[in-house]
Amino acid sequence: MSNYHIKHLEEYYQVYRKSVRNPEIFWEEIAEEHFLWRKKWDTVLEWDFATPEVKWFQGAQLNITENCIDRHLATRGDKTAILFEPNNPDDDAEHITYNQLYRRVNQFANVLKEQGVKKGDRVCIYVPMIPELAIATLACARIGAIHSVVFAGFSATALATRINDSDCKIVITSDGSYRGAKTIDLKGIVDEALESCDGVESVLVAKRINSDITMKEGRDKWLQPLLDEASNQCKAEVMNAEDPLFILYTSGSTGKPKGMVHTTAGYMVYTAYTFKNAFQYRENDVYWCTADIGWITGHSYIVYGPLCNGATTVMFEGVPSYPDYSRFWDIVEKHKVSQFYTAPTAIRALAKQGVEFVEKHDLSSLKVLGSVGEPINEEAWHWYNDNIGKGKSPIIDSWWQTETGGIMITPIPYVTPTKPTYATLPFIGIQPCIMDEDGQELKGNQVEGRLCIKFPWPSIARTIWGNHQRYKDTYFSTYENKYFTGDGALRDEVGYYRITGRVDDVIIVSGHNLGTAPIEDAINEHPAVAESAIVGFPHDIKGSALYGYVTLKDSGEGRNHDNLRIEINQLISDRIGPIAKLNKIQFTEGLPKTRSGKIMRRILRKIAEKDTSNLGDISTLLNPECVQDIMDNAL
Ligand code: PRX
Repeated sequence: MSNYHIKHLEEYYQVYRKSVRNPEIFWEEIAEEHFLWRKKWDTVLEWDFATPEVKWFQGAQLNITENCIDRHLATRGDKTAILFEPNNPDDDAEHITYNQLYRRVNQFANVLKEQGVKKGDRVCIYVPMIPELAIATLACARIGAIHSVVFAGFSATALATRINDSDCKIVITSDGSYRGAKTIDLKGIVDEALESCDGVESVLVAKRINSDITMKEGRDKWLQPLLDEASNQCKAEVMNAEDPLFILYTSGSTGKPKGMVHTTAGYMVYTAYTFKNAFQYRENDVYWCTADIGWITGHSYIVYGPLCNGATTVMFEGVPSYPDYSRFWDIVEKHKVSQFYTAPTAIRALAKQGVEFVEKHDLSSLKVLGSVGEPINEEAWHWYNDNIGKGKSPIIDSWWQTETGGIMITPIPYVTPTKPTYATLPFIGIQPCIMDEDGQELKGNQVEGRLCIKFPWPSIARTIWGNHQRYKDTYFSTYENKYFTGDGALRDEVGYYRITGRVDDVIIVSGHNLGTAPIEDAINEHPAVAESAIVGFPHDIKGSALYGYVTLKDSGEGRNHDNLRIEINQLISDRIGPIAKLNKIQFTEGLPKTRSGKIMRRILRKIAEKDTSNLGDISTLLNPECVQDIMDNAL
């Protein structure tokens, strides 16, 4: 028997050792015993980080939806698979059983087929957090289409870039979405995006807010009538282990977003196994991850991981502040949530509102608390531990990335003793290491450097859609034969890992990854702007917020700075989305540059952080005089 469910620390160490000494034997046992295969594999793992190439379970055939749905029908048909909690607390929650999910996914899959979608086609899903989002995702997987879910908070331009990059010929959306007291005209955003997407042939529209929208003849179709007509039986497409399951875009430090490609078998095995252990999920638990399915956290730990385990997974449409700041705790109480997984930014925002909002609610159902997306600061960790966990529900500070597909470093609750701000120990099968800037591995404990992974795990992204060279350059070229995460980390005296933050030009704002380049490109589109540079600075709710240094053409003679700030943020909002707006915008005479013309962000970062005691040697800059001016006018 493989150790599918780890229950104590000694067992963790024992299983961990086995998983790194004999990874192939270990993962083969897990795959054999806990999943449904149409055909077993010929080889467990083939890999080479130099090419780079990683293949798990080559030769195997399967369909992930048979693992997420069909195989549960005999034993869990009437169990709630998806528990949908709507934006408005007065509306009823919807309990979608495994039987119902089976039928709805099949109907949706048949609609996609009727629209001409075939195995390998890319389908863009731009849908808010309503059941159709999860169902559309699974429907794609049912017929072997590659889903590309785009977070429904992205702008028309960002959506168009993603649709075009992966050549989606169909877009699934809704008439609009609810967000607290607001409604958002999602279909209008899609219409705008599609003005620059020639390849899109059809748009399927779910009805959510009953708004009056325009439907383009021949292209746009209401979803419901098509679903009503469709059969609720749809044979699952037989997929090869390494067939792509989905593309999900993430920001890079330069250039356009990277379409990370995840494949079928390895992703399934790893997300299911990590879900079971990292959340210690038991049969009757109600599990809730507050992320949006538009991010990897939602893909792996709202949809695939939980459903593969036959779990009940909550999908929440709304926001933590609506109708007031007790909404999360109201939902925990109402649905007796056992595992609660959220981001530090949400914890900080709720902590700021005071414990009154928590105290009104019975949170005794909670057994495990999770944190993901950015480093959790000590204060937020304690608030979460004391007020939500009441000191008895362990916090799993789980570190991972869009690229890793699943949780990589995390305490296992009730197994690994936790330590505030530490992600603690590598998950089973994960071999992290810390490197110095010269490419040497820092062995032993009490070291700090850059976090890499030495050996492949089943859910590592296999490539960047349409650009394998960029995949190689970004992840496998900094350190030979290692996957470079882009994060800094330290290992303490007992071998616990603490993630210290990004070491590249990616800035994590409210748990969302933002690359500086696309934001600077948006700012530079403003006719009055000569050039700009973005850095992050500490923010008590968002973790990091964005600080923009902007040089105006002709020194901005006669321009009103406040108006310019509004216009610049509007441009960013239009090009990327409101999440990328700048908190501070400083107008500068010039930006500090090296003699080769590279902007010295390190200096700008220090000024934004109000830490100018040691700016280093600035005399070698092309234009050292601008540094004093920037410091004098810092915001
Ligand atoms: O910097 C790390 C941070 O989020 C980055 C990955 O972002 P994304 O691909 O959007 O995926 C987020 C959800 C998995 C990482 O490179 N990060 C994620 N989790 C943590 C974290 N930083 C510190 N502690 C964490 N627990």
